[in-house]
Amino acid sequence: MSTNSNFEQPTVVMGCQCALVSAGYLAIFAVAYRLLTSIWNIVGPYVLFSPIDLKKRAGAGWAVVTGATDGIGKAYAFELARRGFNVFLVSRTQSKLDETKKEILEKYQNIEIRTYSYDFTNAAVSGYQDLLAELNQVEIGVLINNVGLSYEYPEVLHKVDGGIERLANITTINTLPPTLLSAGILPQMVERKAGVIVNVGSSAGANQMTLWAVYSATKKYVSWLSGILRKEYESHGITIQTIAPMMVATKMSKVKKTSFFTPNGEQFVKSALNTIGNAADTTGYISHQLQLEVMDLIPEFIRDKILTNMSFGTRKAALRKREREAKSQ
Ligand SMILES: NC(=O)c1ccc[n+]([C@@H]2O[C@H](COP(=O)([O-])OP(=O)(O)OC[C@H]3O[C@@H](n4cnc5c(N)ncnc54)[C@H](OP(=O)(O)O)[C@@H]3O)[C@@H](O)[C@H]2O)c1
Ligand SMILES: *[C@@H]1O[C@H](CO)[C@@H](O)[C@H](O)[C@H]1NC(C)=O
Ligand SMILES: *[C@@H]1O[C@H](CO)[C@@H](O)[C@H](O)[C@H]1NC(C)=O
Repeated sequence: MSTNSNFEQPTVVMGCQCALVSAGYLAIFAVAYRLLTSIWNIVGPYVLFSPIDLKKRAGAGWAVVTGATDGIGKAYAFELARRGFNVFLVSRTQSKLDETKKEILEKYQNIEIRTYSYDFTNAAVSGYQDLLAELNQVEIGVLINNVGLSYEYPEVLHKVDGGIERLANITTINTLPPTLLSAGILPQMVERKAGVIVNVGSSAGANQMTLWAVYSATKKYVSWLSGILRKEYESHGITIQTIAPMMVATKMSKVKKTSFFTPNGEQFVKSALNTIGNAADTTGYISHQLQLEVMDLIPEFIRDKILTNMSFGTRKAALRKREREAKSQ
């Protein structure tokens, strides 16, 4: 009996140490893995890998870009034209479409441009059917689901500028185009066993952003949809990418000054296009990826505090600006 317990005691202590040591190694391994993944997400697509042959991956000569008359979408249209794609511009305002078409053709003569004006606040299926009938006249190798709408400024749901009409517009514009245009164009891509779809989400979809509820939630929808479509269509030879930018200097962001962390549309898209085929879900720009990876290392409850503080700060500044403008009128 006593020999038995003498014999057993050290084993229990050893067992305990062994578990602690294993847990320690596991923790170190988990942290190392997390850090290496972060570094890989930055260095892989933005430093190491060379761009793929987009023409080959696309398998057809036309690129469709929504929201193609400004900001990021316009930059996608220009960059795809530069790479020799014919471009189908889809946006709300015909005069801006004509202007963009002219600008692109002045720079790149050996391609074709078509335009279609569609107001994406229009959720009618018949509207989409007409648009798709027109788009499917050409062989589409690339679809850039870029069009999007955000808040005027961050605000709690029931006080959002523009009220429920704005909320409906944001929900419709941010979710229907990637859903219905993908569904309507995939058949010809599946038939060719080639094609590229880029869905432009936002880093706002990566967190539950206070004062951005509908924008953040619709962008989460985009990344979720895009991720599932990737699984559904990768065996059909189709590349589906999610691009979730941080701040880009465009009309939407109301930022005019570019900086290390805030590229303009052209700078952003030159980088983002080179990540197709090299990153399935990425921010599109190296300094954005750096920001994202650092944010992801911060524990969620602290990150939430930081983001909420930023949202309230942005709202405060926007309301102050409004007041000033109202006074000066
Ligand atoms: N800028 C950023 O910091 C940022 C960050 C993360 C994600 N994003 C995402 O990137 C995408 C592009 O944003 P952006 O900053 O380039 O936007 P932007 O500068 O505001 O450009 C928006 C484009 O979409 C068109 N558009 C707007 N409302 C439309 C409607 N109802 N129907 C049809 N077309 C419409 C505009 O055409 P009209 O001029 O004719 O209205 C314009 O061509 C969006 O999905 C956005 O959520 C942007
Ligand atoms: C919503 O979209 C409709 C149709 O384009 C437009 O007339 C209206 O001004 C928009 N409302 C808001 C608040 O953005
Ligand atoms: C954000 O945090 C800073 C520093 O703690 C604080 O001074 C500021 O008032 C906060 N802003 C808002 C809008 O809560």
